[in-house]
Amino acid sequence: MFTSISPAPPDAILGLNEAFLADNNPDKINLGVGVYKNDQGQTPILESVRKAEALILEQETTKSYLPISGSQAYATGVQGLLFGEEHPLLSSGQLKTAQCPGGTGGLRVGADFLKFAAADAKVWISKPTWANHRSIFAGAGFELAELPWYDPETRGLNFDGLREALKQVPAGDIVLLHVCCHNPSGVDPSPEQWAEIADLAEAGGWFPFFDFAYQGFGEGLEADRAPLLLFAERGLRFVVAASCSKNFSLYNERVGSFTLLAASADEAETAFSQVKRLIRSNYSNPPRHGAAIVETILNTAELNSLWRSELDEMRNRIHSLRHTLQEALEGRGLGDFSYIGRQKGMFSFSGLSDDQVNALRKEHSIYIVKGGRINVAGIRSETLERLCDAVAAVS
Ligand code: LMR
Repeated sequence: MFTSISPAPPDAILGLNEAFLADNNPDKINLGVGVYKNDQGQTPILESVRKAEALILEQETTKSYLPISGSQAYATGVQGLLFGEEHPLLSSGQLKTAQCPGGTGGLRVGADFLKFAAADAKVWISKPTWANHRSIFAGAGFELAELPWYDPETRGLNFDGLREALKQVPAGDIVLLHVCCHNPSGVDPSPEQWAEIADLAEAGGWFPFFDFAYQGFGEGLEADRAPLLLFAERGLRFVVAASCSKNFSLYNERVGSFTLLAASADEAETAFSQVKRLIRSNYSNPPRHGAAIVETILNTAELNSLWRSELDEMRNRIHSLRHTLQEALEGRGLGDFSYIGRQKGMFSFSGLSDDQVNALRKEHSIYIVKGGRINVAGIRSETLERLCDAVAAVS
């Protein structure tokens, strides 16, 4: 059975993590996988999470199965995060949310569902995008096409290119959009640009698939959801895959979701029955613990405000690290790094070439994703100087 199988290449991000763990250099630095770390290099369990877990341990009465679509209280909590608790869509019946294993699980459930709903559609992804997007949508059977996104000249958004390309997307095709903190570039559209993208969706009739993995890491929980509110206000229909890995720091609990917004409650109900059918034949129903933590936090006033302050702290730390990194690199006369301060979220698209990325890994045990994406949240005061010296050495 297995004799003719050739080895798969290591994963661009998680494979790099394995290489980092195997490196014996005590001074190694991991700026690869998108995981938040504090200044001691740890990914601590949030205080709000610990308190929620204590409550769950006390109150939990069963380990029986969840429904196929997961916990309803979690689904309602997710919809509140996506649109705001008071948003009229929450009581309209037009929204349906499935609890999924991580944002990746949400993306795959959504991809399988859209393949069922629109077998001939193409999926348009930004260039560049998170490496796994390609695998997820190709794995679901879609043909993929690319849209311009990052402009290496300005180190910002190639909006002219994007606008022209979006005009060419056929009606009924699917466009994957990162709601905020574009991964890997950190380059997001401005509110005016989002409004134009919504105009183009309306005029062109293509279908938006939003990936929302970093809510709270851009400008904040409320500000980051603005593109979803905008598209909803226009009466557009769309789907969202969201993740609680980063904003609740629940990486290994695999907590995410898939949400669809349909034209009516009836339409939503029917479409969601197919989502549930697809989940049942995939992983049957989702695990309970991580989602229980999220719903306990969201539904307990004291924990909710504690969590929000912990999330603000993570975002502010990354923000200040961006400026520290910018100053340290500029201090070495390596050029203008103001773009690091302008980019949003966990990542900075450093402009390092693949040769430089390889040299940093081989000669300095510094791990950066191919393409030059740096996890800013992985930088520590203790390692900053060594990192900047190494970047200078390979520049
Ligand atoms: C990343 O981009 O590093 C994260 O989303 C983690 C992952 O699964 O790749």
